[in-house]
Parts: sequence; C-alpha cells; structure tokens
Amino acid sequence: MIRFCVFGAFLLYLVASPVSAGFYPNGSAIPPDLRRNITDNAWNAFLNFTGCHAGMKVDGLYKIKQYFQHFGYIPLTLPGNFTDDFDDILKSAVEMYQRNFKLNITGELDELTLQHVVIPRCGVPDVVNGTSTMLSGGGRRRTYEVSFSGRSQRFHAVKRYSFFPGEPRWPERRRNLTYAFDPRNALTEEVKSVFSRAFVRWAEVIPLTFRRVESFSTSDISIGFYTGEHGDREPFDGFMGTLAHAFSPPNGHFHLDGAENWIVSGEGGDGFLTERAAVDLESVAVHEIGHLLGLGHSSVQDSIMFPTITTGRRKVDLHSDDVEGVQYLYGSNPNFNGSRTPTPATEQRDTGSGNSGAAGRIDGYSSVLTSLLMSTVGLLMYIL
Ligand SMILES: *[C@@H]1O[C@H](CO)[C@@H](O)[C@H](O)[C@H]1NC(C)=O
Ligand SMILES: *[C@@H]1O[C@H](CO)[C@@H](O)[C@H](O)[C@H]1NC(C)=O
Ligand SMILES: *[C@@H]1O[C@H](CO)[C@@H](O)[C@H](O)[C@H]1NC(C)=O
Ligand SMILES: *[C@@H]1O[C@H](CO)[C@@H](O)[C@H](O)[C@H]1NC(C)=O
Ligand SMILES: *[C@@H]1O[C@H](CO)[C@@H](O)[C@H](O)[C@H]1NC(C)=O
Ligand SMILES: *[C@@H]1O[C@H](CO)[C@@H](O)[C@H](O)[C@H]1NC(C)=O
Ligand SMILES: *[C@@H]1O[C@H](CO)[C@@H](O)[C@H](O)[C@H]1NC(C)=O
Ligand SMILES: *[C@@H]1O[C@H](CO)[C@@H](O)[C@H](O)[C@H]1NC(C)=O
Ligand SMILES: [Zn+2]
Ligand SMILES: [Zn+2]
Repeated sequence: MIRFCVFGAFLLYLVASPVSAGFYPNGSAIPPDLRRNITDNAWNAFLNFTGCHAGMKVDGLYKIKQYFQHFGYIPLTLPGNFTDDFDDILKSAVEMYQRNFKLNITGELDELTLQHVVIPRCGVPDVVNGTSTMLSGGGRRRTYEVSFSGRSQRFHAVKRYSFFPGEPRWPERRRNLTYAFDPRNALTEEVKSVFSRAFVRWAEVIPLTFRRVESFSTSDISIGFYTGEHGDREPFDGFMGTLAHAFSPPNGHFHLDGAENWIVSGEGGDGFLTERAAVDLESVAVHEIGHLLGLGHSSVQDSIMFPTITTGRRKVDLHSDDVEGVQYLYGSNPNFNGSRTPTPATEQRDTGSGNSGAAGRIDGYSSVLTSLLMSTVGLLMYIL
C-alpha cells in the first residue's frame, strides 16, 4: 500500500484541472482554445533539475524519485517519503534508466536524460521487482542476441522484447477474444475503428482473433477513457505525462487518459505532436494491446513496445522485435508470411520468475486492484 498511497499523493499534487477527452482528425482541427502547449505538463518541471548529481540537495528532487519509483527504477520496498538529497538510490535509478534508454550512463540528471524523462509515455513500469524488463546489465532479463554476417559488414541484432514476470499469456482455450468499450465514454464509430485497426495489426502475426462486442462487463478486453483516479489506484495525471496503461493477461483492462487530445484519423504526420500537443491514438492502442497480450517494454527504440511516444511521430507498424516477442507467446499466424520466429538456441531462459499470472477474470473495483497487483506491479503483492 505504501507505494500506491504516496504515488497517489504525488499525482494529485501534479494534476492540472482535467480537460475532457478530445478526438480530432488532425492537429489543425483542434479548436484554438483547446490547444495546449506541450510544455504545459507536470513532468516538464523536472527540466529544472538539469545538471543535478550525487551529493546535491535540491528543492523538490523527491518528486523525481517518485517518478522513478513509479516506473520501477526505485524499489517499492523503499518508503516513498523521499528526501531532496541526490543519494545513491537516485543515482542508481538514473543509471538504470540511462541503460534502458541507451543514454550515456552518467548517473547524473543531464540534459539528454531529462529530455527523455519528460516525454509522454505508457504508465506501465519498465522495471518489475527490480529486474529491468528492458535491458540493463545482467539479471534475469530476456534478451536475444543474434549475429548476422553481412557481405562487407558484421552487425548484431539484439532482441529486447520482454514479458511480465511469470510470462502470463491468454490460455489455449481463450484465443478468440472479445473487446468492448466503456459505454459511458460514448465513443464514435470513428474512434472505435482506430482500436479495430490496432487489433488487426497483432492478429495478423499470431493465431488470435479479436472481435468487438457490446457487453462491456463480459468482454475479455475492456477499453475506457478516464481521468485522474479511476478505480485501480493508478490515477492518470492530466495532460501529457502518462498516456495510457494496460494489464497483463488475462486481465484485459485497457485504460487511456481522457485528458489528452487524441488524433484519430490515422494521418498523424510529422510534428503534429509538438505543434498541437496531441497524441496519435492508434500508436498508443497498438502499444497497449501488446501489454494485454503479455509483452513488457522493449529497449528497441523503433519497436512498438518502447515505453515513450516519440514526439511528432506516428508508430503503428510492428517491429520484428514485437513480432518475435508475441510469437514466442502464441506462435505464428499461419497466414503471416514475414515470420521470423525466435531461435530457441539463442534464447536465455528465464528460470527464476515468480508464479504470478494466475488471476482469473474479474470485474469490479477491488478485483481490478488485485489483478493490477498480480500483473503490472508484481512486488506489491508481496508487501501486502
Ligand atoms: C484536418 O481536418 C480537417 C477537418 O476534417 C480538414 O478540413 C483539414 O483539411 C485537415 N487538415 C490537414 C492538414 O489534414
Ligand atoms: C510553449 O511554451 C513555451 C514556454 O512557456 C514557449 O516558449 C513556447 O513558445 C510555447 N510554444 C507554443 C507553440 O505556444
Ligand atoms: C523552473 O525554474 C524556473 C526558472 O527558475 C521557474 O520559473 C519555474 O517556476 C520552475 N518550475 C517549477 C515547476 O519549479
Ligand atoms: C518516512 O516517514 C516515516 C514516518 O513518518 C519515518 O519514520 C521515516 O523515517 C521516514 N523516512 C524517511 C526516509 O524520511
Ligand atoms: C554521449 O557522450 C558523448 C561524449 O560526451 C557524446 O558525443 C554523445 O553524443 C553522447 N551520447 C548520448 C546518447 O548522449
Ligand atoms: C477460434 O475460432 C476459430 C474459427 O472461428 C475456431 O476454428 C477455433 O477453434 C476457435 N478457437 C478457440 C480456442 O475457441
Ligand atoms: C507476403 O506478403 C507480401 C506483402 O504483404 C506479398 O507481397 C507477398 O505476395 C506475400 N507472399 C506470399 C507467399 O504470400
Ligand atoms: C520479486 O522478488 C522476490 C525476491 O527476489 C521474489 O521472491 C518474488 O518471487 C519476485 N516476484 C515476482 C513477481 O517476480
Ligand atoms: Zn507500455
Ligand atoms: Zn487504469
């Protein structure tokens, strides 16, 4: 509980007055009075910590510790009432973050690192139970390294896809999944069709199907837009910052931040995010469906499962890293012809992970919390 309470307080502190979800065909279509400056978000204040390093004490530095703790870089076992000291805990968090995002490992809050920290991103942690799901050094990460010998050059393709602890996935008997939208959102057909397109991208490569149904309470996957606290103690934080989160199988909950301006036309175009501070809905949907299927974050920047949404970019095509990761869980769709299934010989087996993923299908507030603990934030279960 410790971590949730403190993080909740952190977000409340940062929450700007929520605006209602807007869906627009493109950035130009956002009415002038609803346009937001990208710098107008809670995390942007972290840029004030540029240059901070070990040994310093800076007002408000505890907030960036809470940020790092939320994404798993600081263990949940540590009390959340952090000090403003740049201590060893913060230093190692920064180093792990820099490794995951392939930045120079300085252990300092240098400019490039902070510019990364403030980018809008998925709310699912990068590090679960102290083990980076992205890359970092050693540990029980799942990493595939494959070498190719080209004609004149030699290069390494490093697979960085990852799974949740225990590798939860949809069971054999549940491979034709249904999804439904929260009726309270009253989404238009145009918005719903964005999700349909996103599901198809995954269905093309694995032998699973996704079918839209009306019954929100009985569908395998439930999709909704919410603001602030919305029943799973993972409150959304207003404009930018965290954009969405989704839980590992077989939970099926997929939540998006209603405070964002969403672009739904599928014609994102370069620069729309910076100029109008809007987010391409399909890009986020494809990413979150990856979590619903059991994928964690990847450190391959071009992969769908990379945690941040690169400013000004629409990213909806599965990368080979995503394809190989999801096919490891479900096998290949027989109709998929670009198949490059992972070669078991190069695989470093994860033998030691926990036995989570046993959560059944559940509805309602307290159950949502239970699944949340079991899926996204494994460690909490043990604290409780
Ligand atoms: C943006 O959408 C509006 C409304 O659909 C349309 O009139 C306009 O041409 C679009 N602009 C661009 C640059 O696509
Ligand atoms: C956004 O805000 C920053 C600082 O407040 C300002 O310098 C910049 O010009 C603004 N950008 C836009 C597009 O309004
Ligand atoms: C960041 O620093 C600037 C300049 O020192 C200051 O005006 C601004 O209020 C600071 N922002 C926050 C959120 O502390
Ligand atoms: C956190 O708060 C508890 C209770 O107020 C206190 O005992 C503990 O020393 C605090 N920890 C830190 C690191 O300040
Ligand atoms: C790392 O540091 C070197 C030398 O300071 C610099 O040239 C390079 O751009 C940096 N790379 C990143 C990703 O920050
Ligand atoms: C899913 O549907 C396909 C055809 O619609 C069927 O052949 C298959 O057996 C179904 N799979 C499961 C697990 O129900
Ligand atoms: C594989 O897919 C590509 C592109 O979708 C298509 O052009 C090609 O004909 C397909 N090949 C086979 C054998 O189906
Ligand atoms: C978290 O780590 C603890 C101690 O290393 C371990 O007992 C537990 O199984 C891990 N939990 C998960 C979900 O990996
Ligand atoms: Zn994510
Ligand atoms: Zn949620």
